[in-house]
Amino acid sequence: AETDKGIYPYYMLKEIEEQPNVIRTLMKQYLDDKNQAKIDDQIIAELKNADRIYIVAAGTSYHASLIGKRMFEKIANRPTQVEIASEFAYDSYIPETNPFFVFLSQSGETADSREVLQMIAAKGFKSLTLTNVPNSTLAREATYALPLLAGPEIAVASTKAYTAQITVLAFLAQAMADNKVSVAHPLAAIAVAMEAILQDKDHYEALAQDYLVDASSAFYIGRANDAELALEAALKLKEISYVHTEGFAAGELKHGTLALIEDNTPVIGLITQPKTAELTRSNLAETQARGAHTLIIAADQVAHPEDQIVLPSVDSANDDSVVVDQLAILLATIPVQLLSYYTSLGRGLDVDRPRNLAKSVTVQ
Ligand code: G6P
Repeated sequence: AETDKGIYPYYMLKEIEEQPNVIRTLMKQYLDDKNQAKIDDQIIAELKNADRIYIVAAGTSYHASLIGKRMFEKIANRPTQVEIASEFAYDSYIPETNPFFVFLSQSGETADSREVLQMIAAKGFKSLTLTNVPNSTLAREATYALPLLAGPEIAVASTKAYTAQITVLAFLAQAMADNKVSVAHPLAAIAVAMEAILQDKDHYEALAQDYLVDASSAFYIGRANDAELALEAALKLKEISYVHTEGFAAGELKHGTLALIEDNTPVIGLITQPKTAELTRSNLAETQARGAHTLIIAADQVAHPEDQIVLPSVDSANDDSVVVDQLAILLATIPVQLLSYYTSLGRGLDVDRPRNLAKSVTVQ
């Protein structure tokens, strides 16, 4: 059954490995045979006519929303704002006359997000929910709903739902841009490259042992989309390994947090984009000069030979460079998930059921 662990020791590993196929399933559902986005015209009209799009979410879904904002703005030129559900429910400022709300939620049951949905619906505003669990409460209560189709996600730490959310947000961005750009080829190429990473799990297990299993604190840094992935990477590591981890915009570290770097503190640099590569490298060098144990995850075209993790090359010569830049973090997502998985495993913890946490949080 879909909810069997099968050959896997933990659901999390199974769900990590399912991600290439999650992308492929979504492409079949959301793109036609000419690779044009196949999404209800009414939804696209609401998104395009809005004077501002708000994306509301919690946890990992919040981190996917941050990538969504960048895609909506850079690919489709639509002003977009991301809000943490639990904050926005009680402290909102909505000056627009015609805003449109997108709710991202794996479970579709998160109480914080439901509270915001009720608040904006009472003001007469319309909404779209993207959820993974079919027929969830949020999907039923929103004006429109679209499925994430990642299949049941059982491990508490969310993996494939994050990838599914970013993928569907990319289709929405393409549709809002009147299909003038295409996310199809970059996504297909990323799915293939993900499979190459998944062939190399021993490498990630060894790196987790070397850098993270005995660490008491760690940092992920990056710029632009890599800074947003750094937040998700840090959450993934801390929630299942209990290593205190912070995700940081690389350039912001020197304004205070650099004081926390000690001998052997792991600092993991995410470098997927040419325009930020050298700056992030110099921020990593600053931490290394203070004793940090630096680990670099770099895209093939910006990698140095000594980088510990070089992502497989993705053929993108004929693709829109804005789209390629926006989607590049999807590939870097697999290594950060594997590093957290093997750190939790190496520390002898129950990977799928971390202490104090629940898969779906129905209290505020
Ligand atoms: C819980 C889960 C997280 C998840 C968050 C938001 O805290 O442990 O993995 O990201 O809720 O859940 P949602 O279902 O709304 O995406």
